[in-house]
Amino acid sequence: MKLPVDYREWAVLGRHAEALKSRNLIDHFAANPDRHSDLTKSVDTLRVDYSKNHITAETIALFGAYADAIDLEGLRAKLLGGEVVNFSESRPALHTALRSANPIPASMGEPVAARVEDERAKLFDVADRLRAGEILAADGKPFKHIIFLGIGGSSLGPALLMKALGYSNEAAFDVHIVSNIDAHALMPVLNNCEAVRTLLIVASKTFTTTETLTNAETVQRWMKDSGVTDLNAHLMGVTAAPEKAKEYGVPEDNILPFAEWVGGRYSLWSAISAPVVFAYGADVFQEFLAGADAVDQHFAEAPFEDNIPILSACLDVWYANFWNAQTRALFVYDDRLGLLPDYLQQLETESNGKDRTQEGAFVTWQTSPILWGGVGTDCQHSVFQLMHQGTHLVPVEFIGTKHADHGEDLHHRKLLANMLAQSAALMRGRSVGEAKEKLQGKGVSGEKLDHLAASKSFRGNRPSTTILIDRLTPRALGNLIAFYEHKTFVAGMLVGINPYDQMGVELGKELATELEGVIKGDVDLPQDYDSSTQALIHHIQS
Ligand code: F6P
Repeated sequence: MKLPVDYREWAVLGRHAEALKSRNLIDHFAANPDRHSDLTKSVDTLRVDYSKNHITAETIALFGAYADAIDLEGLRAKLLGGEVVNFSESRPALHTALRSANPIPASMGEPVAARVEDERAKLFDVADRLRAGEILAADGKPFKHIIFLGIGGSSLGPALLMKALGYSNEAAFDVHIVSNIDAHALMPVLNNCEAVRTLLIVASKTFTTTETLTNAETVQRWMKDSGVTDLNAHLMGVTAAPEKAKEYGVPEDNILPFAEWVGGRYSLWSAISAPVVFAYGADVFQEFLAGADAVDQHFAEAPFEDNIPILSACLDVWYANFWNAQTRALFVYDDRLGLLPDYLQQLETESNGKDRTQEGAFVTWQTSPILWGGVGTDCQHSVFQLMHQGTHLVPVEFIGTKHADHGEDLHHRKLLANMLAQSAALMRGRSVGEAKEKLQGKGVSGEKLDHLAASKSFRGNRPSTTILIDRLTPRALGNLIAFYEHKTFVAGMLVGINPYDQMGVELGKELATELEGVIKGDVDLPQDYDSSTQALIHHIQS
């Protein structure tokens, strides 16, 4: 199988990058008065401005040629058509079927559309009955609290949605999402819930994950100790392994299943979002699904040069491979999106943080950049020093909402002004001459002037993309997350890896199981461990 770097088109991109490096971003704007409109693309409620990036129309055309060479269209058709795209696990990746108004009827001889409909019907039915007070706790009274246990893809999505939608939607339940095995996370939640009023939802695709099952045992013990008479009445399971949930003791009626072909980090479209549906209602969730469906259609049909997931994927590959950028930063200028960087970190880095091709060869090029980020304006008072004057090239993504929902115009104006100021400042920079002029205006002169002007100058020319959402509705959130999912898939295809497995997390899990017994003192540390681990264990035990 041909590697990305073996394609002539890859080499052409490399030469094109070298040629562009001598041009400042500002020069691109001067050369093309239509640059902003040429490089701003829209889909549904999203508007993405790529113009402050080190790209031109030629860059997009050259990526188009590379995409043709690797048959990106064919790969996309396979994904959306339900063919096997996860080769190591011989599975399709059919998260799009969960939100499609018209899902594919079947994949690999198994029904898809009917299954999705049944599973969603059960989720909505349970939600309606819970919200109507028809599903009751063991003492015959309604539930008040929900403790939702899951980790990774089984918690980051619902946590993101609960926060993002919580401002504009009243929650029918007091929802707590706990993922970490550290009981410092769980205990405060137990202290704040009344056990007899609490519904426990155990969410795990595999229903084998230690963190989730350990937390579940503790919550059940707490319920028992607090006088819950029928633990089953307080227990629900969300899983792609219903037989394991049954074995664990979840009553069949209380299991909300989803299919194996839904990847963990693509599962927030399924019953994994049960707390969101229970708290905010099925209509809100339907709107979220519809937003994703709109982007799925865009991804399937929009031409290459207008296709937002494809263009953003190209940018990642572009900067990581041809501009030596090891990371990408995401700053959200809407506090409600505060968990988006965490969510996308799993989506992107667990998907594309790989050093082997689909065929098992080591890559000699870059795959996923490290995604990190935070909330604006808070980050401006911490890491932005490095963004403006540091030595790394960090392509930035800014996300903001055109309309806020709080009615405080002054706050929103200032927030948006800050976001725009940051992207402009990163690009423009400030020359030593400009800095001097400013300082002279304040009466600074002589040696101090030279010294201060140097430290107050900014090289600029730092790239960013600005994503403006019309308003943070469930639909817009669906737009946004589906966009990043497809972006992640395309980036994986462009660098020749399988975005749909996560073998890299396994080794640590195996060793943790082994070391737990060693720390407890049940078994000796196996010989093949290093002296550092050995000494740390002795210290912990002592
Ligand atoms: O360890 C990584 C992982 O397998 C993720 O891919 C997944 O989202 C998470 O663990 C949780 O897995 P599960 O839903 O099976 O508990």
